[in-house]
Amino acid sequence: MWSIYIQAARVEDALENLALFGARARIVAGATDLILEIERGNRKGVDVLIDITRVAGLAEIGLDDGNWIHLGPLVTHNDCVASNILREKAYPLVRACWEVGSPQIRNRGTVAGNLVTGSPANDTITPLIALGAVLTLKSAQGERRVPLAEFYTGVRRTVLKDEEMLMDIAFPAMANTQSGTFIKFALRRAQAISLVNVAILLDYSGEIVHNATITLGAVAPTIIRAVSAENYLVGRKLDEETIRIAATLAMKSARPISDVRGTAKYRQVITRVVTQRGLRALKDGVVTEGFPDEPVLLRNAFQPAYTYTDSYREFTGKDVINTRINGRSYSFGNCHQKTLLRMLREDAGLIGTKEGCAEGECGACSVLLDGAVVMSCMVPAPRAHGAVIQTIEGYSKEGEISPVQEAFAKEGAVQCGYCTPGFIISATQLLEEFPKPTKNQIEQALTGNLCRCTGYYRIINAVEGAAQRGGE
Ligand SMILES: Cc1cc2nc3c(=O)[nH]c(=O)nc-3n(C[C@H](O)[C@H](O)[C@H](O)COP(=O)(O)OP(=O)(O)OC[C@H]3O[C@@H](n4cnc5c(N)ncnc54)[C@H](O)[C@@H]3O)c2cc1C
Ligand code: FES
Ligand code: FES
Repeated sequence: MWSIYIQAARVEDALENLALFGARARIVAGATDLILEIERGNRKGVDVLIDITRVAGLAEIGLDDGNWIHLGPLVTHNDCVASNILREKAYPLVRACWEVGSPQIRNRGTVAGNLVTGSPANDTITPLIALGAVLTLKSAQGERRVPLAEFYTGVRRTVLKDEEMLMDIAFPAMANTQSGTFIKFALRRAQAISLVNVAILLDYSGEIVHNATITLGAVAPTIIRAVSAENYLVGRKLDEETIRIAATLAMKSARPISDVRGTAKYRQVITRVVTQRGLRALKDGVVTEGFPDEPVLLRNAFQPAYTYTDSYREFTGKDVINTRINGRSYSFGNCHQKTLLRMLREDAGLIGTKEGCAEGECGACSVLLDGAVVMSCMVPAPRAHGAVIQTIEGYSKEGEISPVQEAFAKEGAVQCGYCTPGFIISATQLLEEFPKPTKNQIEQALTGNLCRCTGYYRIINAVEGAAQRGGE
């Protein structure tokens, strides 16, 4: 566990503390990787967390005069999904972000965190290498630019130095002659690690391929290019035979391992299949098939995901966390090493928020944090300082349960009830975003919530019923 939690107010605060604490310190953004790594003991020696989520100006997505797109270090996966610039000019990245975890994970997890963690199965690395991304790494001494393709030295190993922070992710916007896609193959449709993923970027006139980039994830220690497939495609008509041969060449580039999710042989075959699917979709112009026009985000569109602060703080034990929960002010001491989930249950006495897995997988701990549904087991408690939180206890007013709660009761959507608070929070936020959601949107909204009693049909019926009755 960490012993010091620093809330940076400026980038300089973060850089000074990285220089001061060296290998003891890590930047923390969404914390969806870091909390687990620390709890599982994979980050030995790290006991200082430097939270940059209160620093203004780091969550921007921009397009510069040279037609390069820039992502700040706090751009989340859901920010990418919601961005019109990216949907138009960097579709493979948007598609990858949409495939990450669940809405709760996409509301907190950043693209920068995904790149720095550096698992070869992480979804945004594959499209960003295909798009030619370049990273700006900054320290108190200065800054340097590193192509993403040269950032990795092995599984979860990068050239990032202890004193450096990733400041900017830049890549050329896709030209009108380019089209691209990203395909993830995993063992289920949400909350699943890629068994194989592929990003394809083509300069394609509609008939002949003028240039091709194919990157493959989860089939080698780092993301790799399928060079022989790329070379084969150039100058060729994109027909079924070309696609078949290119996909076979991509398969031969893969150097996967066997693990619990699949054998090396299976991964190789899947590499061929997903490359084939991607190239076909590009040929037929249907790459956006299956990607929703109006994606469910489970966050308040009118509230920034991060509340900025101009006050630098170090939480070491004596410092009090001041926060607002369900409209009431609270002050907590001695919680700086806890997760938000533990602080809510143990210190605020709000035990409606449940612990199911403590790994971001089940959604039983879902709460609203600054207007976004998040997994509270994945949030360090000091992040609540100055924030606005709503837990399940805040949904019933003056003894009256909410329309969504009422619909769950009427429909018999509650069995043991352990998962129910998390479902109510996701469902209520969905109806805020889409008062008349489609069945598909309901399913999207609930992908981060698991019910061990498996009463999913009744839960979906309850949300439909609440929507019909105009429930909040
Ligand atoms: C249930 C669950 C499901 C998931 N599903 C997926 C999935 O489908 N696909 C996928 O790719 N990932 C998945 N993840 C992993 C994770 O959510 C992502 O990798 C996420 O993008 C990490 O971002 P973060 O902001 O939470 O990173 P953090 O946990 O805050 O940080 C991760 C690492 O990056 C470093 N870091 C963060 N920002 C900076 C910076 N600006 N400069 C320097 N270092 C920095 C941190 O020190 C840390 O080492 C999942 C995680 C969970 C818990
Ligand atoms: S997701 Fe937090 S307890 Fe399961
Ligand atoms: S009702 Fe029992 S876990 Fe969902």
